[in-house]
Amino acid sequence: MSAFTLRTLTDRDRPALAALICDSTNAWYVQHGKPPIFPDGPASTSLFAEVYEALDPGCCVVAAHHDGRLMGSCFFHPRPTHIALGIMNVHPDFFGAGVARALLGHVTSLADAQQKPVRLVSSAQNLDSFSLYTRAGFVPRCTYQDMYVDVPAIGMTVACPGRERVRPARFSDVPELVALEEAISGIRREQDWRFFIASPGDIWGLSVIEGIDGGIDGVLGSVCHPGSTMLGPGVARDEASAAALIHARLDALRGKKPVFLVPCERGDLVRTLYGWGARNCEIHLLQVRGHAEPLRGVTMPTFMPETG
Ligand SMILES: CC(C)(COP(=O)(O)OP(=O)(O)OC[C@H]1O[C@@H](n2cnc3c(N)ncnc32)[C@H](O)[C@@H]1OP(=O)(O)O)[C@@H](O)C(=O)NCCC(=O)NCCS
Repeated sequence: MSAFTLRTLTDRDRPALAALICDSTNAWYVQHGKPPIFPDGPASTSLFAEVYEALDPGCCVVAAHHDGRLMGSCFFHPRPTHIALGIMNVHPDFFGAGVARALLGHVTSLADAQQKPVRLVSSAQNLDSFSLYTRAGFVPRCTYQDMYVDVPAIGMTVACPGRERVRPARFSDVPELVALEEAISGIRREQDWRFFIASPGDIWGLSVIEGIDGGIDGVLGSVCHPGSTMLGPGVARDEASAAALIHARLDALRGKKPVFLVPCERGDLVRTLYGWGARNCEIHLLQVRGHAEPLRGVTMPTFMPETG
């Protein structure tokens, strides 16, 4: 086995990290008979470190070979209620050598010291990561189907009840968003909501749906970038509110093909989405190591930023 040391990512590592994420993920897909997921190379994967380091500076652990090469990386996001595990990558030259287990051990030790659960969303079709996490004590808690919609250039052509109650999120909504997510998922992460509202440019969006009798019934973000065109994170009290939010965020991404995760058990929502032409592209699992409150609404995780 190759010797390596674990250390925190530095700014000088950024180009090597973008290449590692690209090479690792592409190699895994190609080895499993699928096309590379980042065909445009590391230009698409530099977004991960940009976003994650802005959100949680110093929260990326890397495994460095004795010759200086990066062998693996893992982002993590400490929050008041839990630690979220971000993307994990090992260079294909070192698959199966215990690098991911060591990186994961670093994060679970931090969580244990703070007596916090660790949460993540992992592919149900990736037995390597499924095994990595379940061997480390993670338990699948919710199954999501990844769906995508080809949004027409003129926007969504089907109507959706409740759309008139969807509006852009504001900073003054944040306390209510935090309380809503805690009621639905049992987690708090104010800084993630603030990040979406504060982030300038055309990349980020965040919508809320107002309740018929006041208050906020749901929230959903989106990111649009060559590295990730995706809806989420989001939570909603019910399936109708989730559908209206998804409709609004899709409509904002005209001419794109955004991916989003919805709980498989939410049959009415899934049927509505099929009615809009949605197709399945993968299955993901919410996995938690430690205590997890039961989910009391519709949860819609994302990988950018990773939520769990
Ligand atoms: C998934 C990935 C990170 C695993 O990295 P790795 O360094 O090869 O993993 P490790 O060598 O540390 O092995 C992980 C554990 O899974 C176990 N494992 C692997 N396949 C298994 C199986 N089919 N059944 C049971 N255990 C299995 C290994 O034995 C090891 O446990 P152990 O050390 O207790 O024996 C790597 O394949 C990768 O980077 N893939 C591409 C990107 C990706 O998919 N990232 C995950 C996204 S969440």
